[in-house]
Amino acid sequence: MATRKIAVIVGSLRKESFNRKVCKTLMLLAPPTLELEFVEIGQLSLYNQDEDDNPPANYVEFRNKIKEFDGVLFATPEYNRSVPGALKNALDVGSRPYGASAWNGLPCAVISVSPGASGGFGANHHLRQSLVFLNMPCLAQPEVYIGGVAKLYDGDTLTNDDTRAFLQQFIDTFASWVERIAD
Ligand code: FNR
Repeated sequence: MATRKIAVIVGSLRKESFNRKVCKTLMLLAPPTLELEFVEIGQLSLYNQDEDDNPPANYVEFRNKIKEFDGVLFATPEYNRSVPGALKNALDVGSRPYGASAWNGLPCAVISVSPGASGGFGANHHLRQSLVFLNMPCLAQPEVYIGGVAKLYDGDTLTNDDTRAFLQQFIDTFASWVERIAD
């Protein structure tokens, strides 16, 4: 089976992000057919349609980078029951110029992670709404809402075996999903 390159996009910009920690765990659990790589979004300037004819270098670099991948894993915190602005900005930047979206057709999955009880459900589903429009086939099951995450980690180490087993099931299913959609 071919190796599939997966961009990992984390909606949180903070250093100790729980979303990033869960992604690091998924990188350890991923089958050899998936090659996961973080793609950063914090350097992107705010999208401004006036710049479409002369886009900032950071947009061009980001769009070209995304086009190197076979799929995308999104990990989002919930900010005020939706996605952080940085993540929505990255979606908007990647979606232009019109008709040449870097996201088009890429299989994807969404996980949401929160110290709160609802596991970022609202952000997870707001993100899925954009992904439908961006024509990104998104894994439906298993849904991943990781709540109470602060109790699941000791530093960067996941200490909960049930969560590890669930994340293993998720990343294996995502690998199969990417394989079904790719080519
Ligand atoms: C939050 N947080 C939060 N949590 C949640 O479950 N639902 C929410 O609506 C919000 N809203 C919210 C708004 C803003 C502006 C901030 C800064 C935070 C808390 C959030 O889940 C928590 O800070 C997480 O730790 C953020 O994810 P990372 O950075 O750990 O990945």
